[in-house]
Amino acid sequence: MAVVSHHTMSLDGFVAGPDDTMDWVSGHGRATDLAERTRSRIDAIVAGRRWHDLALDRGNGVDGIYGGAFEGPVFVVSHRPPPGDVDPRVTFVTGLDDALAAAGRAAGEGDVAVFGGSLTRQCAAKGVLDEVVVHLVPVLLGGGVRLYGEDGDPTVRLERVECAPAEQITDLRFRVVC
Ligand SMILES: NC(=O)c1ccc[n+]([C@@H]2O[C@H](COP(=O)([O-])OP(=O)(O)OC[C@H]3O[C@@H](n4cnc5c(N)ncnc54)[C@H](OP(=O)(O)O)[C@@H]3O)[C@@H](O)[C@H]2O)c1
Repeated sequence: MAVVSHHTMSLDGFVAGPDDTMDWVSGHGRATDLAERTRSRIDAIVAGRRWHDLALDRGNGVDGIYGGAFEGPVFVVSHRPPPGDVDPRVTFVTGLDDALAAAGRAAGEGDVAVFGGSLTRQCAAKGVLDEVVVHLVPVLLGGGVRLYGEDGDPTVRLERVECAPAEQITDLRFRVVC
């Protein structure tokens, strides 16, 4: 099992544009073999509360993940879990360690994807991030949600293990070295 930060990212390092816009992600090229393999290996997802609420407000919630191709559980971290029913595939968890542990158990031999800048940074700081996969889109957003780079984020050394260009997209997979 690997913990994988998995995102479509702008050339200037944002995973969402200003006001969390995501209209820039599509229309740049076909999915590469690297992208398909990454998605097929992911058997559980850990995401933050902002991802969850935005996915419901602006998209299809869990049904929108990987274009509807994802069928596994999603563990959403939040200090304020909703009182009512949520999608049965979603489990709210109040701490990241517990969410990662539950996702790891659910994924078994598969991988756990980590969504969003906040969780990517926290996983890096905890030293639990194994891989970073980005689908690099040729756009400069100029603002939004950064994948990485808040004050205090530790330096993370990476080794590029795969690179797959397809039309305008460049898919990159890195292994965390230390
Ligand atoms: N481009 C892509 O491929 C891609 C993929 C995924 C997401 N995104 C984008 O990324 C953005 C969301 O990422 P984000 O970093 O802004 O926010 P996020 O991680 O989705 O949500 C942050 C929230 O999660 C909760 N949280 C975070 N760490 C926690 C912890 N250790 N324990 C308990 N709760 C915790 C807190 O919610 P509470 O306030 O409820 O405690 C926090 O305010 C969205 O715009 C989304 O569309 C892009």
